[in-house]
Amino acid sequence: MSVTIKSGKEIEAMRIAGRITGETLKVIEAAVRPGITTKELDKLAEEYILSCGAKPSFKGYFGYPASICASVNDRVVHGIPSGQVLKEGDIISVDVGAFIGGFHGDAARTFGVGAISNENQRLIDVTRQSFFCGIKFAKDGNYLSDISAAIQDCAESAGFGVVRDYVGHGIGRSMHEDPQIPNYRNNKRGIKLRAGMTLAIEPMVNTGTHKVKVLGDGWTAVTKDGGFSAHYENTVLITPDGGEPDILTLV
Ligand code: MF3
Ligand code: CO
Repeated sequence: MSVTIKSGKEIEAMRIAGRITGETLKVIEAAVRPGITTKELDKLAEEYILSCGAKPSFKGYFGYPASICASVNDRVVHGIPSGQVLKEGDIISVDVGAFIGGFHGDAARTFGVGAISNENQRLIDVTRQSFFCGIKFAKDGNYLSDISAAIQDCAESAGFGVVRDYVGHGIGRSMHEDPQIPNYRNNKRGIKLRAGMTLAIEPMVNTGTHKVKVLGDGWTAVTKDGGFSAHYENTVLITPDGGEPDILTLV
């Protein structure tokens, strides 16, 4: 296992990839409404990424056919954009990555479509909060498991389930680098965090249990119990001397 430490120059390149990734999510957020299809959202994302001189990180990754993952309602992650029309009350998790200058950004958000239920809004809010609980510990000298435990406690104390089958990850020249970053406790303390590490931290939270299954398309993960699911992800830089982490995909 090898965790990369980025140089100053590499960090500047990651900032650019991160900014474009975050901006792409803003483009999607502005377009989400009843009546639009997930394929249309994918096209908007791809066009924006290309217009920035970047490439969509996901397209072609292990044969993945699109530029975003679009996971609606009980879909957890890796939903493939399609002719599915969004309707009022749906929630949609959009995950996207941009590659430029040799580096990747990776980020995800869950958006409500029109007016959504209070419970779905609470799910979205808690998922986002759990990320921020976690990154309080994303500091030079802490252990990776400090982040995982804080995310789990935040989501579970709200009565939700934290997905285990998918985890966050290091990111840089490759979209998925070491270490893996679970959103729950296991019996490992994990690596010691160091300045210059760049991590994609990404809680996936379900209204019901943590259990998921993959559909026959080989990609789409759905909740086993039919509960809804939300996702919140940013690419985060660990800064020197115990400083606050730098969130590269938050624009
Ligand atoms: N962005 C996802 C992650 O956070 C990976 C997407 S898989 C792909 O790890 F195939 F869609 F690219
Ligand atoms: Co990721």
